[in-house]
Amino acid sequence: MARSRTQFVCQNCGSVHARWSGKCESCGEWNTIVEEDQSVGIGAGPPSAMARSVRKGRAVNLFALSGDNEEAPRIATGLLELDRATGGGFVRGSALLIGGDPGIGKSTMLMQAAAALARRGHRVIYVSGEEAVAQVRLRAQRLGATDTSVLLAAETNVENILATVSGKDRPDLVIIDSIQTLWSDSAEPAPGTVTQVRVGAQAMIRFAKQTGAAVVLVGHVTKDGQIAGPRVVEHMVDAVLYFEGDRGHHYRILRTVKNRFGPTDEIGVFEMSDRGLREVENPSELFLGERNARSAGAAVFAGMEGTRPILVEVQALVAPSPLGTPRRAVVGWDNARLSMILAVLEAHCGVRLSNHDVYLNVAGGYRINEPAADLAVASALVSSLAGLALPNDCVYFGEVSLSGSVRQVSHAAQRLKEAEKLGFASAVIPAGSSDVTAGREASVSAVENLADVVAAIAGTDISDKRMDD
Ligand code: TYD
Ligand code: MG
Repeated sequence: MARSRTQFVCQNCGSVHARWSGKCESCGEWNTIVEEDQSVGIGAGPPSAMARSVRKGRAVNLFALSGDNEEAPRIATGLLELDRATGGGFVRGSALLIGGDPGIGKSTMLMQAAAALARRGHRVIYVSGEEAVAQVRLRAQRLGATDTSVLLAAETNVENILATVSGKDRPDLVIIDSIQTLWSDSAEPAPGTVTQVRVGAQAMIRFAKQTGAAVVLVGHVTKDGQIAGPRVVEHMVDAVLYFEGDRGHHYRILRTVKNRFGPTDEIGVFEMSDRGLREVENPSELFLGERNARSAGAAVFAGMEGTRPILVEVQALVAPSPLGTPRRAVVGWDNARLSMILAVLEAHCGVRLSNHDVYLNVAGGYRINEPAADLAVASALVSSLAGLALPNDCVYFGEVSLSGSVRQVSHAAQRLKEAEKLGFASAVIPAGSSDVTAGREASVSAVENLADVVAAIAGTDISDKRMDD
């Protein structure tokens, strides 16, 4: 008897359920589960042939691990920040997914990349499923890209797109903006459903592998920041980049989250201008640009993004709370991490914050992902509570443990080097990183305990305490 080929797929997270329900058990979203035909897409096998007879398999070649390998053939765009994030440019025969909020600048960046590649003599086809040709032309005008040989199409049907790009002049790069608009004749459900997105992405990835063209897919993200549609698309492609940024700010970060051909912790930094995205070679200057050095509650954190040091200001405001349960609000950092630092300050450093509202903000709309920011956060909090400004030429980094000790973090030397380059004369860093301080001009205080840092900020002499340690 033929097995039923329908399944219930959550349109938010792509999880598959045996039966319909109002709420998705995996992601907790309501009304996202839709009945879909399973006879197409990943795992479905070739249509109907499967059902009729099981073909005998053909033995494939086996290879040894050693052997000559060619370097992944790359097409560099010349946009240094984009090339940095991709690990040296688009890879031929690979598929890359770029996710990001609507309006963040994905289409802008890809149009600039397309124009840059076309200027270098590559054939680029830009397929827009969201905008009409006229709209894309308008953007190209604004970006000064109209004199290039980029070819446009406004199309959403996968079969039509494949027929177009598989013509006799094979393109080097195909941009699909966006996968959510793709639909295929071979899949039942409406465009935009998980199955359609999956089938569309699969077809484009197969095209990339077969022809050696690089394919870039644009993906929208859901409100919790994941690429909408199935996670399986992220698994299918060779690289996943996220384009992030804060609407209120002009800078944008291109972050690599998966890369089969390069490092995954690299970022590219751009600034949105009225003539498109501008590359930012020195991000620290951008994030420290509007710094008001003499105010209490501000500490400069020497952070790392992949191999790249970034200095950013952490701002804290600690104020007596009129509420029974004081407020804790964080922008640009982890909420749970802030609670932890507050608890450590209370438990080990004698800093009472339970009657205070605490606000923490990372300047420039930047988001810190490192625990190394603990020390800078704690310093900013104490500085704000005490009403004492921290030295304006000092940077902080170090992870704080629950016991109140300050732990070492990676890349201490690079962090210090960047700080020195930007004119910071002192640094508070974890003890044990001292080998990196030899020969440096900056005065470095290596600390073991958060309590020492707190005491130093509050103006107490901590020298005897240090000798005891
Ligand atoms: P867009 O690339 O359309 O975003 P996405 O494809 O991610 O949805 O960019 C949209 C925003 O960027 C829009 O609000 C206008 C702004 N923008 C500029 O500020 N300068 C420019 O040169 C361009 C082309 C866009
Ligand atoms: Mg767009």
